[in-house]
Amino acid sequence: MEHVLAACRAAVGRPGRVLALTGAGVSAESGIPTFRGKEGYWTIGAREYHPQELATHQAFAAMPWSVWAWYLYRRGVCRHAEPNAAHTALVRLARALPERFALITQNVDGLHRRAGSPDPQTFAIHGDLSLMRCANDCVLDRFPIPEAVPELGRGDEISLEVRALLRCPRCSGPARPHVLWFDESYDEPRFHLDTVRRLAASAALLVIAGTSAQTNLPWQVVTLAERAGAAIVDVNTEDNPFGDIAARSGGCVRAPAATVMPTIVETIVDALAP
Ligand code: APR
Repeated sequence: MEHVLAACRAAVGRPGRVLALTGAGVSAESGIPTFRGKEGYWTIGAREYHPQELATHQAFAAMPWSVWAWYLYRRGVCRHAEPNAAHTALVRLARALPERFALITQNVDGLHRRAGSPDPQTFAIHGDLSLMRCANDCVLDRFPIPEAVPELGRGDEISLEVRALLRCPRCSGPARPHVLWFDESYDEPRFHLDTVRRLAASAALLVIAGTSAQTNLPWQVVTLAERAGAAIVDVNTEDNPFGDIAARSGGCVRAPAATVMPTIVETIVDALAP
C-alpha cells in the first residue's frame, strides 16, 4: 500500500488531471450486487436471465415490461442502499480539487450522486437507474422516473396505472430506462464519450476502483491515461486486467474500496497542502 500512496503523492505533484474510474465493486459494500456476481441473475417466468441478456435494446423491444420490472426492482434496491466510505472519500477529493478532479463511473445506482459527488465533476458513462428517456429518442433529455412509480419486488408485475407513468413527457410515447445497453454504443450527449476521453488524455493520476475491466470506454480511459504518462492505481478485491496495467504504473491494492479509498484520498489531499 505504501508504494501506491507514494505514487499518488508524486503524481499529484505533476501537472494534469486527477481522475477516478469506478465500477460495481465500489457499491458492493453498500449491499448492491455486483454485475457479474452470482447474485446478478433475474428470473422471468421459468427462465433465469443474466444482466447481459436483459440489459439490451433487443430484450426491451421483445419484452419491455419485463425489462422495466427488472430496472424498477433494481431502482428499489439502490434507493435502500447507502453510500459507503469509498463514495464519501471521492466526494472529499472532488471538493479538494474542484478544477482538477473528475469522477468517471460505470455505476447506474446513483450512490455517487447521493453521497454528494458534484454533477460538473461526475460522468456517469453507463447512465442512471433513477432516470428515463424517450424510447423513440424524440428528445435526448433525461427525466426522473416519477416518484409515483413504486418500487417493485422480485416477480412483481407492472400495473396498467404504473405503465401509464412510464411515458415520455414530451411526445407521450413509451419511455425507457436511461441506461447504456450491451447492444448499444457510447456517445457524447448521453454518456460523455468525448469528454471522458479528453479528461483521460490529460491525466496525471488515475485511481481505478471496483471494476472487472469488461467494458469498452473504461479501457479507452485507462489506455489514454497510460499513454499520457499518468500514474495508474487499481483498487480491487481481486486481480483483473486493469491491475496488470497498474502493476507497471502506480500499483495495485487488493482490498475493499471502502477500506482503501479514504486513505488514498487523505494522501492526495495532504500532498496538495502548501
Ligand atoms: N472493493 C473493491 N472491488 C470490489 C469489491 C470491493 N468491496 N467487491 C467486488 N469488487 C470487484 C470485483 O472483484 C470485480 O472486479 O469489483 C468488480 C465488479 O465487477 P463487475 O461486477 O463486472 O462490475 P463492473 O466492472 O462495474 O461492470 C462494468 O459492465 O455489466 C456492465 O454496464 C455494466 O456498469 C457495468 C459494467
